[in-house]
Amino acid sequence: SRKTTILGIETSCDDTGCAIVNGYGNILGECLYSQNALHVRYGGVNPVHAWELHRDNIDLAVKNALKSAKIGVSEIDALAVTVKPGLLLSLTIGVKYAKFLAKKYDKILIPIHHMEAHALVARMYYDIPFPYLTLLISGGHCFLAVVKDVDSFLLLGQTLDNAPGEVMDKAARRMKLKNIFEYSAVSGGRAIELAAKNATNPAMFQFPIPLLKNRDCNFSFSGLKDSLVRKVLKKESEHGLRGDEVIPEIYDLCASFQASIARHLAHRLERAITFCEMKKLLHFDTKNIIISGGVACNDYIYSCLERVGNKFGFNLYRPPHKVCTDNGVMVAWNGIEKVKKGDTIPLLSISNIDPTASF
Ligand code: KG4
Ligand code: ZN
Repeated sequence: SRKTTILGIETSCDDTGCAIVNGYGNILGECLYSQNALHVRYGGVNPVHAWELHRDNIDLAVKNALKSAKIGVSEIDALAVTVKPGLLLSLTIGVKYAKFLAKKYDKILIPIHHMEAHALVARMYYDIPFPYLTLLISGGHCFLAVVKDVDSFLLLGQTLDNAPGEVMDKAARRMKLKNIFEYSAVSGGRAIELAAKNATNPAMFQFPIPLLKNRDCNFSFSGLKDSLVRKVLKKESEHGLRGDEVIPEIYDLCASFQASIARHLAHRLERAITFCEMKKLLHFDTKNIIISGGVACNDYIYSCLERVGNKFGFNLYRPPHKVCTDNGVMVAWNGIEKVKKGDTIPLLSISNIDPTASF
């Protein structure tokens, strides 16, 4: 029933998240320990460091989520935990903890796929029927898929090299953006978005258009990253900069770079829409697209994608910003969706991760 409550645990990357959600889509309680701070996130996630932080935070994250919901584990109907994909060390912390809770309180444990959770959580906020098109853009992934049902996904395309958030994080580091946003604990992607707002000539730098001749729905971001690195090097030597100095064209460069990422995503989304129409994969009157993952927080990128969607009569949706990035809410909600659908849920049957783990 809608009164069903599920506690979700997410530890697939570097954020330790826990949330309690009910069948109405209400968040009863939540807690998130985010390691997104510039100094940590710049240049990517360190798996061992992430594992240590999960290990130190998981118990508190779950306890604080329960506390804010004013509820005990015994009153929860089921547990849900991300089992893949992600960093194995990180995943293991969440899975072990969830198994421990499930055993102790005799609860059902629902295994969750991280990307499916990203793709479904917008349904907690908007009434979006299946099937719909989804574009998942984060620090670890780039997926275009048709969501046919709670447990049925058709993958249309993915990145052939880096993920867009990863490339933005690396670019932010190379541009030394932390020297501009010294005190703000923001991700590299967010730092680029903020810097781009100060641009006076956002078209100053030319970037290539990746996979221009590919007729599929795949992505490639490494060329954009390489192009950015070359531009920074060139400007640094032109200005004779050393060490920690930031190039004076930083704002325009961020804007041009961000636009090149948005343009590539927009091209591929357009391609996916055309493909779906051709193959009649989205046969409903309501044509919907859900954008999610950390990069979906970027308002500039989102508005570019919205323009593409609108051109073809599609509505675009994204979850609230804090639910676009990794969190426990989407895991709990995915559990709710699975329970609602009435799937036979495998009890403690997380077979493909750390099968040797015990408590
Ligand atoms: O979904 P997420 O929290 O974790 C992964 O699964 O990777 O996404 C984090 C990524 C980071 O790479 C970060 O730079 C990017 O999302 N990100 C952004 C913005 N906010 C976060 N990228 C562009 N613009 C933003 N405003
Ligand atoms: Zn994610």
